Amino acid sequence: MSYPGRGALVVLEGCDKAGKTTQAKLLYENMIKAGIPTNYMCFPDRTTKIGKLIDDYLKCNNDIEDHAIHLLFSANRWENVPKMKELLHRGTTLVIDRYAYSGVAFSSAKKNFSLDWCKQCDIGLPKPDLVLFFDLNMHNAVQRPTYGQERYENQTFQEKVRRNFLLLQDESFKVIDANRPIEVVYEDAKNSVLRAIQESRFKPLQELWV
Ligand code: TYD
Ligand code: MG
Repeated sequence: MSYPGRGALVVLEGCDKAGKTTQAKLLYENMIKAGIPTNYMCFPDRTTKIGKLIDDYLKCNNDIEDHAIHLLFSANRWENVPKMKELLHRGTTLVIDRYAYSGVAFSSAKKNFSLDWCKQCDIGLPKPDLVLFFDLNMHNAVQRPTYGQERYENQTFQEKVRRNFLLLQDESFKVIDANRPIEVVYEDAKNSVLRAIQESRFKPLQELWV
């Protein structure tokens, strides 16, 4: 099967433990099985030098000033943009676990951080064709294993993050009820992704928040 045109940029977003990683991996595996060229990526990308600073920060091994860590999360996306564009233009669909929406939703949940300030450094990133927002109620989130081990994983903070995600909704957003069983959530996600792949193939890649 040949795939003319570009790949779709698909982003999975949500609060911690909403099931993004499970769904991203399922999507990736099944797209490959179906013969659709697909790559999986995640942010933060903990493998780079910047990513290692972020990893230590999240594990609470170091403290970084709030504005500075926000800019590092953004820089970690920018350093991957050349690779992302190359893949997309070669026809590969990207399934990405978190992106700039997490960047803004998390930082702006901190005291004295506005949504608007937080968006500035991500303006101009490749714009997702589809943002799947996995919405999980907090009561279910705290029950999931390993909740509460990393920075930000507490209920009060996550509730603010959720509200911020909803403020960032645009035409590319699809809210998915993540309280349902994995297979049901997956079916919903997969159908949206297949549609996005069809619809974006011959559309130019756009820029975020311009
Ligand atoms: P997470 O996807 O939870 O990693 P893991 O699955 O390995 O636990 O991401 C780590 C945390 O980083 C998560 O709490 C969200 C936060 N985050 C930001 O604060 N800013 C960002 O720009 C990104 C991408 C994530
Ligand atoms: Mg986490």
